[in-house]
Amino acid sequence: MIESPLLRTNAYIGGEWLEAENGKRFEVVNPLDNTVIATVADLSESETKIAIEKAASAFEIWKGYSASKRSRILKNWYQLQMEHARELARILTIEQGKPLGEAIGEIRYGASFVEWFAEEAKRIYGDVIPGHSSDKRITVIKQPIGVVGAITPWNFPSAMITRKVAPALAAGCTVVIKPSELTPLSALALAELAHQAGIPSGVLNVIPTTQASQVGIELCNNPMVKKISFTGSTKVGKLLLRQSADTVKKVTLELGGNAPFIVFEDADIDKAVEGLIQTKFRNAGQTCICSNRVFVHQSILTEFSTKLKEAIATLQIGNGLDKGVHIGPMIEQKAIDKVDALIQDAIDKGAELELGASVSEDHPSIYMPTLLSKVSPDMDIFSNEIFGPVIPLISFDSEHEVIQSANATPYGLAAYFYGRDYARIWRVAEGLEFGMVGINTGMISTTLAPFGGVKESGFGREGSKYGIEEYVSLKYMCWGNVN
Ligand code: SIN
Repeated sequence: MIESPLLRTNAYIGGEWLEAENGKRFEVVNPLDNTVIATVADLSESETKIAIEKAASAFEIWKGYSASKRSRILKNWYQLQMEHARELARILTIEQGKPLGEAIGEIRYGASFVEWFAEEAKRIYGDVIPGHSSDKRITVIKQPIGVVGAITPWNFPSAMITRKVAPALAAGCTVVIKPSELTPLSALALAELAHQAGIPSGVLNVIPTTQASQVGIELCNNPMVKKISFTGSTKVGKLLLRQSADTVKKVTLELGGNAPFIVFEDADIDKAVEGLIQTKFRNAGQTCICSNRVFVHQSILTEFSTKLKEAIATLQIGNGLDKGVHIGPMIEQKAIDKVDALIQDAIDKGAELELGASVSEDHPSIYMPTLLSKVSPDMDIFSNEIFGPVIPLISFDSEHEVIQSANATPYGLAAYFYGRDYARIWRVAEGLEFGMVGINTGMISTTLAPFGGVKESGFGREGSKYGIEEYVSLKYMCWGNVN
């Protein structure tokens, strides 16, 4: 069992720590060795309804706070997250598996949304528009949308919560969070710090549950919830969108990806290898923006792949709590089985295995970094989000061909490319049908930029000045008889 001053194992509703009404609890395990680290209250739709009611009552108060008061409270929350960064990161590594250094990075990344939106709270400006006749004046104000349902994933158990909750609270909304059942402890630890920070009762609520679909239906169907923000698979995102239709909710979806990573013949090969290692092996390949298909110009393929193999050989695998580890466990056996099946299909269809394709002998939950060459579009690995530490190499001849191949996917989240010709950089960046493009970099995530996709990767943006727009509605006031 995990011990931590920030460990909370009950739901957080209306400022109180509550058991499930029926007393049910579920086990949370360490993905490294499947040991049980905590048992957590397992809530259902009836308690979700109560949480929504609490959030709706709190909304009436919270929206009336001045922007600077909300900002001060959010800054307290930010400070507490930074003070407790190591402890939050330890919980995160134990329940999710990512290496401690990465977990600390996630906590700081997550906290940075709270700091940023604490400032943005004071900048939710409206407009004055010239009237359509001489006695008319037009003003536009932005108002908080209301109660938000935030449904968050296991791969970033902390930062995906703050990326939704911080702009919501800054705008004056209140939230009901449903974290992944695989990683509820990070969410509950954040709630404990929110409590200490002085976020009033009912403004932030956390519903741990194994009954994801019932709780999801309640959040989508309940007319008191005005907005759903979801990060997760495209399949579940589509379902939530359909379920939100009856109450016509505003929805933000950050869904799956199939990121191309393109290396042109004039690229700095060492930098491209470094960027690929960063984007591919972050969180053992389990992020939506991990590169999924690596296109390398045929003239540099041999050099690129030799250097890539050398770089992969330096990666340490192991327990995320141990120093120097780069790759920890996969989240669950199902994820390993999926990766295995994609690799097998590729090999059956002619791909060549250069490295990996097995689990670690010491830790069967860790998948070894894997390199496949001669990958082609008919293989499942080309069209599926891998969500594991596997690099499929695909060679190409022309710019036109590679843009077409890169875009040949229903997904449109992130894309990356390396090259030096400035005119081509513009052409390729504009031609890629993705919401985010890394140019000569594999690291694009920051609070300061709008994160989000196009096509079946979703819509809406998180972070940056655009992020707060997801949580407000515009009200136009027409002033007449101004004589
Ligand atoms: C994700 O994988 O969903 C988020 C990744 C990030 O914010 O960098």
